[in-house]
Amino acid sequence: MVVGHMGSSNADFDKAGSGSTGSGSAGFDATGAGTVNSADDSVCATGAAAESAPGAVTGAFATRAIHAGYDPLDHGYAAVPPIYASAAFDLGDAVRGDALAAGNLDGFEYSRVANPTVDALEKRLAALEGGIGAVAVGSGMAAVSYALMCAGEGGGRIIAPSDLYGASVDALGDFLPQFGIHTDFVKDINDLNEVESKIGPDTRAIFAETVSNPSTEILDIEPLAALAHRHGVALIVDNTVPTPYLLNPIRFGADIVVHSTTKGITGHGNAIGGAVIDGGHFDWANGRFPQFTARQQVISDDRAGEWHSFAEKFGNAAFIKRIRIKYLRTFGAVASPFNAYLSLVGLETLPQRVSQQVASAHRIAEHLTHAAHVIKVNYSGLGYTPQYDLVPKYFPRGVGQILSFLVDGSADNVRRIIDGTRLFSYVPNIGDARSLIVDPAHITHREVPADARIAAGVSDNLIRLSIGLEDADDLIADLDQAIAGAYRA
Ligand SMILES: Cc1ncc(COP(=O)(O)O)c(C=O)c1O
Repeated sequence: MVVGHMGSSNADFDKAGSGSTGSGSAGFDATGAGTVNSADDSVCATGAAAESAPGAVTGAFATRAIHAGYDPLDHGYAAVPPIYASAAFDLGDAVRGDALAAGNLDGFEYSRVANPTVDALEKRLAALEGGIGAVAVGSGMAAVSYALMCAGEGGGRIIAPSDLYGASVDALGDFLPQFGIHTDFVKDINDLNEVESKIGPDTRAIFAETVSNPSTEILDIEPLAALAHRHGVALIVDNTVPTPYLLNPIRFGADIVVHSTTKGITGHGNAIGGAVIDGGHFDWANGRFPQFTARQQVISDDRAGEWHSFAEKFGNAAFIKRIRIKYLRTFGAVASPFNAYLSLVGLETLPQRVSQQVASAHRIAEHLTHAAHVIKVNYSGLGYTPQYDLVPKYFPRGVGQILSFLVDGSADNVRRIIDGTRLFSYVPNIGDARSLIVDPAHITHREVPADARIAAGVSDNLIRLSIGLEDADDLIADLDQAIAGAYRA
């Protein structure tokens, strides 16, 4: 079955966590004996070549969403990726164990570093984003934190807007400084002059959301990536809100993409997860990132007298290798096989779900612009917003299922609208099959200081919606009755 092989050479193949790389998929033979599939598990000394192997991603998005990264032949012919609930893997025999531990053979050893179910998800996400590799982690915040720390480690600085998910603002402004990583916040991340004015000798990365939560501001990725690259700085983007179905930031120059898979990717509000995906284009040995050129014990072989740096050993795959081998292995925010399975199942219907949600979100946003007591609607997909010229370039399929709106009156009116809805669940999440409502100032951005909250457009009278799969007319009727009820004496 040809499709089963799609994407199998497009992900991060280091299962051993000791610097090994390979060129193929899981390496379990069809008998289930756990032996190495010789066709797939070739020995690869340099790693970088295997990570960059071209041509594996074929077919339209909807086809890859179902088939990429998983080959039933490697998993006992199971049509659906099985849940490998195994903490560790049999090393086979002494020769194989030695080769695995030395990083000379591709295969699984221990699920903190790699697991076959998680591996299928990683390959699929890499194939869907157009990256050379992915590492799935335990949450979106683990993905954000690992990516920012991996880039900023050792006294680096990040440039970011405050228009971000609350916990990311908290991480950048309050927590990462405790680890020596500082952030230069900008008012407008699309203002290239402002961003350039913040680039200094210690700047390592620019970080932003491709569509910000909750304001739905669109990131103009291409010129920002060009600016970053002129200075040898990496562009790291959080692509959670659009999902890879609506936008592939790597195509426009982003270097690293992070996701909360908790949202649209898994799509049913039933599993926390995250992922880091590497575009494979950035030169981590350009002089700004000493952690990539320093010799590192974990990928070296003291017995053989061989010492390596990540940049030298893994080339264009240095970042994603470092996320797995240093961050996942050390901090251990691992994705569980069960959650990875739920994400894989969710991904199968991502295009269909998101298409319907985008269509409904658009209708609801338009309806709200004419609704009583609504004073502003934030939805960049509307034809008259200042950013509308960016939509055809980045979002030909729509900007997403998140929108927010401001109402007149007091905090009491906001509370009454939320309490008055019958179909919307009052839930601090997005991208669910259910429609969700939340008051960000009190829930998702509660800890963010007032000035940063206002800069992110999160005022007390803001309500955020995440549109699900219910009938759009039913959702509109529900909002209408909740708003009307909230202003009744
Ligand atoms: C844009 C964005 N990034 C990251 C996160 C964090 O994801 P998680 O809750 O999976 O840790 C969220 C959560 O709401 C988010 O909206």
